[in-house]
Amino acid sequence: MRLKNKPWALPLIEANPQYVVTEPQQYRGKWQERFSQDQPLLIEIGMGKGRFITEMARRDPEHNYIGIEVQSTATGIALKKQLEAQLPNLQLVCGDGGDLTEMFAPGEVAGIFLNFSDPWPKKRHAKRRLTYKTFLKQYQTVIAETGHLEFKTDNRGLFEYSLASMNNYGMVFDQVWLDLHDSEEAVDNVMTEYEEKFSKKGQPIYKVTAHFAK
Ligand SMILES: C[S@@+](CC[C@H](N)C(=O)[O-])C[C@H]1O[C@@H](n2cnc3c(N)ncnc32)[C@H](O)[C@@H]1O
Repeated sequence: MRLKNKPWALPLIEANPQYVVTEPQQYRGKWQERFSQDQPLLIEIGMGKGRFITEMARRDPEHNYIGIEVQSTATGIALKKQLEAQLPNLQLVCGDGGDLTEMFAPGEVAGIFLNFSDPWPKKRHAKRRLTYKTFLKQYQTVIAETGHLEFKTDNRGLFEYSLASMNNYGMVFDQVWLDLHDSEEAVDNVMTEYEEKFSKKGQPIYKVTAHFAK
């Protein structure tokens, strides 16, 4: 989903290199240098306006977090949140999460979050879905052996497609929720901007956690 371009976003990003990386390839294999403490790294691809990643980093100071977003306006909105919160365990990347193996060394990441990823409903656009096999291959490369993938969406079609894609890839499911908000998991669930919007409309939220077979 494209946001209207805000002219303040790029200058704000450029003025805050302590929080936003625009050339992430430079940190491949050395992301820990960007944080005050060396601890496991969790990343979100397509963080949008950044509510989820900011709240996760605030609640969980024992992990380092990176939110990746391709749109500068959304990154700028997420940056505003981090400028307020000033979390030492949160960094933002304005860039394409499709280039993950150029951004991270093999095994550098402990976990990946995909939240309400663009569904790309047309069959001919399936390759753009963030759970398409070429993306899974990149996740497998950068995720450590003990690492995991978490995926949430309101879109049943994308969810079914993603379960099949992960299964065909040989991934192992840890848990699957067909109505996350009506489950025990809801207690600690951190909502994204999209999640709040869709759940207010009464739509169930789907979630899967999975890992790559050893
Ligand atoms: C539907 S929005 C969801 C935003 C947020 N995760 C939420 O749940 O509120 C999907 C976001 O993913 C971003 N996105 C899509 N493909 C991406 C990619 N390859 N790399 C980084 N961001 C991407 C889009 O720009 C958009 O902001």
